[in-house]
Amino acid sequence: MALHKTAPNSRGYYVKMKLLHKHGRLHHHQEKNCFYKYYKWLLWLSLSLYFFTSYLISNNNTPKQPPSLKTTHGSRTLIESNNTAPPQSLNYLGHGSLKNLKVFVYDLPPKYNTDWLSNERCSKHLFASEVAIHRALLTSEVRTFDPYEADFFFVPVYVSCNFSTINGFPAIGHARSLIASAVNLVSSEYPFWNRSRGSDHVFVASHDFGSCFHTLEDVAVADGVPEIMRNSIVLQTFGVVHDHPCQKVEHVVIPPYISPESVQDTMDNSPVNGRRDIWVFFRGKMELHPKNVSGRFYSKKVRTMIWRKFNGDRRFYLQRHRFAGYQSEIARSVFCLCPLGWAPWSPRLVESVALGCVPVVIADGIQLPFSSVVKWSEISITVAEKDVGRLAEILERVAATNLSTIQKNLWDPATRRALLFNNQVGEGDATWQVLHALSEKLERSYRASRVSRQLDFDT
Ligand SMILES: *[C@@H]1O[C@H](CO)[C@@H](O)[C@H](O)[C@H]1NC(C)=O
Ligand SMILES: *[C@@H]1O[C@H](CO)[C@@H](O)[C@H](O)[C@H]1NC(C)=O
Ligand SMILES: *[C@@H]1O[C@H](CO)[C@@H](O)[C@H](O)[C@H]1NC(C)=O
Ligand SMILES: *[C@@H]1O[C@H](CO)[C@@H](O)[C@H](O)[C@H]1NC(C)=O
Ligand SMILES: *[C@@H]1O[C@H](CO)[C@@H](O)[C@H](O)[C@H]1NC(C)=O
Repeated sequence: MALHKTAPNSRGYYVKMKLLHKHGRLHHHQEKNCFYKYYKWLLWLSLSLYFFTSYLISNNNTPKQPPSLKTTHGSRTLIESNNTAPPQSLNYLGHGSLKNLKVFVYDLPPKYNTDWLSNERCSKHLFASEVAIHRALLTSEVRTFDPYEADFFFVPVYVSCNFSTINGFPAIGHARSLIASAVNLVSSEYPFWNRSRGSDHVFVASHDFGSCFHTLEDVAVADGVPEIMRNSIVLQTFGVVHDHPCQKVEHVVIPPYISPESVQDTMDNSPVNGRRDIWVFFRGKMELHPKNVSGRFYSKKVRTMIWRKFNGDRRFYLQRHRFAGYQSEIARSVFCLCPLGWAPWSPRLVESVALGCVPVVIADGIQLPFSSVVKWSEISITVAEKDVGRLAEILERVAATNLSTIQKNLWDPATRRALLFNNQVGEGDATWQVLHALSEKLERSYRASRVSRQLDFDT
């Protein structure tokens, strides 16, 4: 493309620009020397117009374009050039607390990601944070189109959308090979993987045992984290407080995906602040006679214990079958049980919090997401797996002592916001928390470490 000749930079990556976003290098001017800010800004504006027009003319192989970036860049440049100017048009200006983080999102061929969206469940089910985070990053203020100024590189591969025709669950057998193929692609097409051996690259692994990519813990543990990802950062729902082979990688524990629209629908249709007529609620798989699957029992038999002991107790509303309207049951409940399944975490954690039902976490050693902002000990009850038989007694004591305190804490909007992924990043929401966690790992950023070396040298 003729455009490349006009680029003010000759580090030799422009041959790759075909793969990148067309407006990419415009971004480049932002962080430069402030003496030239206004001059740069004018230049930027005219280049924008020029590039945008050329883009309209020359565009023939366009990847999907994020909307609205062009307009917000202008305002961000202004705001950054004048610290005293109050934030205006953007609802998301927590940028300061993100330490000016910049993330480059690889534009991979659709077979790695968007092809899967032809099944609409792909962006909605409990593992869909892999889709949601990608989507939100595309229009985020932290996104950069210039990989040379990026702190982190996001590799968008969707591995949880190959739903089994037999049971409807995601089959993740292809996860390792699809990710390996994506890494192969980015490491041969771009210099960034090799220069850091992937340590500033970010993946999402949202299923049961994170980047071990298997539903059964013993198989997951035996397989371990793929060699190719071990140096990178993995955003995963799986997390335990003890040592575990499936978290032997730099990782951030994220919440399971629950669609904010479904929560909103439920809130609109239920008297969430009204009377809660169910005392203890659980709906989900509770095996009467759990099978021994290579030495392990589903839910370590905890759910079977719950069923055996409390089915028939009228304080407990226990259901073993799926029901589309089960969020409305959560909205009617005081306590919502969140026992482990194969993995310790469950989507109920998020649904309970979002709908104001006190989560009762029964999953020894679980590490809960974003614990620096979500004060889990103040909004939930933890019951040890071995104490599950005493559940009624434990909850009666809470009801008699601190239930209303817990409910009040639970209703803090900041907590609910932190657990939900929105299509566009909103300050404090789940993707924002991910970005915040990344901004705490800037020592892994090749760019940031170079900048600080430069500063050392200058002073
Ligand atoms: C920058 O700050 C000064 C002083 O507070 C103000 O007068 C000026 O309008 C601001 N400029 C912009 C571009 O916001
Ligand atoms: C999807 O899963 C099925 C098994 O359910 C498997 O045969 C098929 O190869 C998988 N597709 C991909 C692209 O991995
Ligand atoms: C990165 O390293 C791999 C393996 O050594 C090599 O095949 C590949 O060409 C390198 N990529 C680049 C962009 O140099
Ligand atoms: C479960 O099966 C394994 C073999 O797969 C066996 O070694 C183990 O003793 C069984 N455990 C129980 C509690 O039945
Ligand atoms: C509520 O009381 C229980 C003991 O009954 C205690 O374990 C828990 O930490 C208390 N929670 C809060 C938020 O005070």
